[in-house]
Amino acid sequence: MKRGLLLSALVVLGATQFIRPDTSNPPVDHARSLWNDRAVDPKVAGILRRACADCHSHETQWPWYSKISPMSWMLDRHVKDGRAKLNFSDWSGQSPDQLEEIYDSVAKGKMPMQGYLMLHPEARLSKADQDTLQAWADGKLALRSSLDRR
Ligand code: HEC
Repeated sequence: MKRGLLLSALVVLGATQFIRPDTSNPPVDHARSLWNDRAVDPKVAGILRRACADCHSHETQWPWYSKISPMSWMLDRHVKDGRAKLNFSDWSGQSPDQLEEIYDSVAKGKMPMQGYLMLHPEARLSKADQDTLQAWADGKLALRSSLDRR
C-alpha cells in the first residue's frame, strides 16, 4: 500500500519534469543596461551584478536545479517577478522610484531574497556593500531632486 503511494508520487513527479518553464534569457541591449551607464560607480555595478543580477536582469545564470520541477517553477516566478519590478538590463527605462526602492530593500535587508542567499552565499551583502549601495541610491536621489527644483 505504502509502496503504491510512493510509486505514484514518483510517477507524478517524473511527469511534471516535462512541464518546464521557458528559462531562456531575453536578449540584452547593452546600450540600455546599467552595466553600460557611466554614471554608475563600477563598485556599485559590481555589487549589483554579484548580488542582484540573477533576478533583476536578462543575464540570469540558471543553476542546474532550475531544470527540475518544482524548483524550476519557483525560480522562474522569482526571476519574472524580479525583472518586472527592477531590471538592470533595461536601466534606461527605470522609474523615478526605483533608486528609493533599492535603498529601502537594502536598508531593510529584504534583498537579496533569503532563500537565494542560502544557495548563493557569494551574493551576501557585507555591511560595507550595504553602505555603498545605500550611499549610491541616496546620492542619486539628491541629484535628481536638485534637478527637479530648477
Ligand atoms: C532570488 C531572486 C532575487 C534576488 C537575487 C534579488 N531580488 Fe530583488 N526582487 C525579487 C523579487 C521576486 C521581487 C518582487 C517581490 C514582490 O513582488 O514582492 C523583487 C523586488 C525587488 C525590488 C522592488 C521593491 C520591492 O520590495 O518589491 C527591489 C528594489 C529589489 N528587488 C532590489 C534588489 C536588490 C538591490 C538586490 C541585490 C542586492 C536584489 N533585489 C536581489 C527577487 C530577487
